[in-house]
Amino acid sequence: MHNQPKFVPQRGTSFFADGRSARPQVVDTVARGQLQEDAYLYTGMIDGKEGDMMPFPLTATAMARGQERFNIYCTPCHSRVGNGDGMIVQRGYRPAGNFHTARLMSAPLGHFFSVMTHGYGAMPDYAAQLTVEDRWAVAAYIRALQLSQNAKRSDVPAGEAVQSLRNVASEEGLPATFAQPWVMPSTAVTGTPNGEDNGIPAAVNMGPAPAARTTGAAEPQKMQQTR
Ligand code: HEC
Repeated sequence: MHNQPKFVPQRGTSFFADGRSARPQVVDTVARGQLQEDAYLYTGMIDGKEGDMMPFPLTATAMARGQERFNIYCTPCHSRVGNGDGMIVQRGYRPAGNFHTARLMSAPLGHFFSVMTHGYGAMPDYAAQLTVEDRWAVAAYIRALQLSQNAKRSDVPAGEAVQSLRNVASEEGLPATFAQPWVMPSTAVTGTPNGEDNGIPAAVNMGPAPAARTTGAAEPQKMQQTR
């Protein structure tokens, strides 16, 4: 195979008139699997503006997938509730977006898709980690998070009783402590979108961030002086 006529990458040739061995794609052909007929699915844009609907029907499975992917890829910076106070931010990263501001509460779904696809400011894109469908599932889950953090008593349909946690605990056979105030880890956050008190106890103090680790051969003495 070594000794046979072939085109070596990036080398020229006298065979084609333009002298290039690497050929341009044949006009009007599309590689298998790259047709992308549904423009909205791939761009989130309708007539140049971010659209506000799912490109495919939202199912419980897709929502669960969105939750799972969000918890893997987004919580380190945005936290489990999406207020932008994740562990990386607590350790000094630029504050990530808070999904519960008025602007993002009313942002169209396509905006979240677009941020994941192209990145946003200091945030890298997640196009390589999340498939197109996964990005939509995460966008839908962010919408659910927004609703969950902004729920009011009046959201429960009239006539339906709101059960106390104590009742839930005894019905489900859970320990009575289930109904007591929970101490949430700081990544689960205590803030509410409008800043009002939500009765959740303050976050556990995780203590100061650990000092930067020195790599094997580094001189500890010197490292300390520069800090
Ligand atoms: C490494 C940290 C990090 C991760 C992980 C991360 N983000 Fe962000 N995100 C940021 C930062 C920082 C900003 C604010 C960017 C700025 O203002 O420059 C931001 C902003 C945003 C915004 C707000 C955009 C706007 O219009 O203000 C959205 C939406 C968002 N991120 C979605 C996501 C989603 C969805 C994921 C998971 C797929 C994710 N982010 C993962 C750091 C992160």
